Amino acid sequence: MKISDARFVSSSTRVQQKPKQRLPEFAFIGRSNVGKSSLINMLCGNSKLAMTSSTPGKTKVVNHFIINDRWYLVDLPGYGYAKMNQKGREELAAVIRDYIFNSEEMVMLFVLIDSRHDIGKIDLDFISDLGENGIPFALIMTKADKQGPNVVAAQVEKDKQILLESWEELPPIFVSSAQKGTGKEEILNYIENILATL
Ligand code: GTP
Ligand code: MG
Repeated sequence: MKISDARFVSSSTRVQQKPKQRLPEFAFIGRSNVGKSSLINMLCGNSKLAMTSSTPGKTKVVNHFIINDRWYLVDLPGYGYAKMNQKGREELAAVIRDYIFNSEEMVMLFVLIDSRHDIGKIDLDFISDLGENGIPFALIMTKADKQGPNVVAAQVEKDKQILLESWEELPPIFVSSAQKGTGKEEILNYIENILATL
């Protein structure tokens, strides 16, 4: 799939406020600063679409982007930002949960993991919650340009072993770099294949 048209539609903090036009939604989540907004911009070929920042906690709302007038790409706030105060964290968690568990149009949730580190407890807890609630998800290992390909491949293997300690089956796993465009084709083809089944 090629993205020929990507436009910001709206921001919301509760699922009732999302766009009225109902289309399949593909959402992106992960720890704060993992590279969600950068990946979205890379997929859409527009570096100014989603706001990125080196300061964690940049995205605090659910942002809908309409793609090729056919589906929504959804940029979610990050979870697990330690420096945010308790109230801020609880509010963000409520925004995230409300969208993930109540958005009927969400067909796939991409969970981003930093490819430089072992998949962490916070990520494992988060996806275990998804599993218990029957939410379909795939993993994307981000920032692959920061290390050599062999190191990234070894990290992916290690993460698979960690996942297999609590999961019988592995989810789809993609490797990406927003800087180099790695993973763009694979992720967009995966989305296209899901759209074709709807
Ligand atoms: P929040 O909205 O704060 O949760 O962050 P986010 O997950 O949307 O991350 P964002 O895309 O804003 O990126 C965070 C930082 O990581 C920025 O400084 C980006 O430039 C950098 N970054 C993101 N993706 C990549 C990548 O693939 N390669 C490299 N080298 N840097 C990246
Ligand atoms: Mg962001």
